Amino acid sequence: VSLTWSPGPATAAVGARTADVWRVHLPVLPGVVDRSLLASARRSVLARYVGGVPAALSFETSCRLCGDERHGKPRLLDDPQLDFNSSRSGPWALVAVTRGAVVGVDVEGVERMACWDEIAAVAMADIERRRLAEIGRDLQPAAAARSWTCKEAVAKAAGWGLAADLRAIVGTRGGAGEPVLEAVPPGWGQASSWTLFDADPGLGHPGTVALGATDAVLRAWDLT
Ligand SMILES: CC(C)(COP(=O)(O)OP(=O)(O)OC[C@H]1O[C@@H](n2cnc3c(N)ncnc32)[C@H](O)[C@@H]1OP(=O)(O)O)[C@@H](O)C(=O)NCCC(=O)NCCS
Repeated sequence: VSLTWSPGPATAAVGARTADVWRVHLPVLPGVVDRSLLASARRSVLARYVGGVPAALSFETSCRLCGDERHGKPRLLDDPQLDFNSSRSGPWALVAVTRGAVVGVDVEGVERMACWDEIAAVAMADIERRRLAEIGRDLQPAAAARSWTCKEAVAKAAGWGLAADLRAIVGTRGGAGEPVLEAVPPGWGQASSWTLFDADPGLGHPGTVALGATDAVLRAWDLT
């Protein structure tokens, strides 16, 4: 099922069991990774939920898992119940937002998965590697990128990022072709308490939104 992206509202509200994903097209400057563009897009998105001037929003990034103040999942001090997460790959950035649940997002370029078997060796479960090996070679990088974005979106939602046991986070496809979380690391609760959504911003860039809630819907907005 392909997602329909609509122009996003100037003021937005999101409730439980709903996640919004905002798509942002950013200029790619050769050899430059400009994090400030994503940061200002993120502020512009979040100000639509909270009100006020984007530049006035304040964040904190202390890690709930180890206390380090620099690498925790960013949280919005202005509205702690609003959870958000963002990801960038090539010209695309995604910002996911929800309320009263955790949300994570990841987007990857398929071209970065040319050597997917090296990533699979450290980050994929045996079942995922078997599934990838069974499909045609030319389809493997895209499938590996999809598999990776499921893992990373869940790991980012939970605040672990790449420090999570990535091999224990396994996504698959349900009967209608929808993404489904099959397994999570021990101590993380039930995989069935998560909802995954495909959120590809553009061709060759699989994206996934992971929401820590069930019976949920995703709304897809363009930041204009
Ligand atoms: C967070 C992380 C997954 C980002 O990976 P990436 O593929 O380079 O980048 P993405 O574009 O997908 O995402 C970047 C965004 O993730 C968010 N982020 C940062 N730390 C995060 C965390 N712990 N959890 C969830 N999201 C996080 C930030 O908003 C960041 O954007 P910014 O740099 O503009 O602020 C990766 O840097 C990581 O795992 N960091 C270490 C986390 C860690 O050490 N945890 C230790 C637990 S003790």
